[in-house]
Amino acid sequence: MSILAVRYIRPIDDGWTLPHLFKCEDGQTYVVKFINNRSGSGILANELIAYRLGKRLGLPIAPYRIIQITKDLVNMFPALKSMDIPTGLHLGSLYFEQGTTLLGEVNLALCQNLHQAAGMMVFDHWINNWDRHVAESNLLYLPDQRKILMIDHSDAFFGPYWDIEEFMDDSDRMDVFWGPLYERFVPYIDSPNPFGRYIRLVEKIGEEAVVQAVKGLPKQWSISSEDASSLVDFLMGRRYLVREALEELRDNFPIWRQEGED
Ligand SMILES: Nc1ncnc2c1ncn2[C@@H]1O[C@H](COP(=O)(O)OP(=O)(O)O)[C@@H](O)[C@H]1O
Ligand SMILES: [Mg+2]
Repeated sequence: MSILAVRYIRPIDDGWTLPHLFKCEDGQTYVVKFINNRSGSGILANELIAYRLGKRLGLPIAPYRIIQITKDLVNMFPALKSMDIPTGLHLGSLYFEQGTTLLGEVNLALCQNLHQAAGMMVFDHWINNWDRHVAESNLLYLPDQRKILMIDHSDAFFGPYWDIEEFMDDSDRMDVFWGPLYERFVPYIDSPNPFGRYIRLVEKIGEEAVVQAVKGLPKQWSISSEDASSLVDFLMGRRYLVREALEELRDNFPIWRQEGED
């Protein structure tokens, strides 16, 4: 179900896809990525599917909504007209005004949901989200709630242009990610088995849940039903690759590493 954008606010002036802020009919402000963003409409599907899957796993992920931009709204705001924004269905994440990316000053020791960073790493591997472990801009810290919140899954799966052929070529291997963003969480999540709980959650997720996450995408985003069902198969198959991929991170975790040496 989509919601109506009722007022254009401003560009967010950050990121590759250059999202913009809108007030919507539910009274909330959303960070909206347009169908005609420079990576293409596929990233809107990626964001929405990743949100549904992340929520299903109980991970801290910003709420996403399909946002309808009408012709009247575009006509009302010259900035929208000049960007040639197509009317129709775009995608927004709920705007957290207090949110600061990890590029800013963040004292993680104050954070109260740090354990979920382990789930984030498991999730990124499962959905092939290579755009977080190095980019400290794809995780928000909310100082008022003392929580981390995942954003930006535009490059998940195989980026904006995945299709059935790409999935078939790459169905039995998983890239392993490690970088500065993940490293910051090591002191807080290291344990004899830091990822076990989340790996089990992914391994147990049923096909019906994945089908639900991939279904009902707006036609305007141009994902064929054949490609969508190949994404379901891809995700189902990858559930069993996560455990082995994460095992390769063990050396980065002193307590977990010790466990392997005993
Ligand atoms: N829901 C949100 N609340 C607050 N800030 C956000 C939100 N979503 C994105 N941002 C800010 O906008 C930037 C760009 O958004 P992002 O989703 O990362 O787009 P891109 O794919 O272009 O990198 C983020 O790095 C962050 O600073
Ligand atoms: Mg980003």
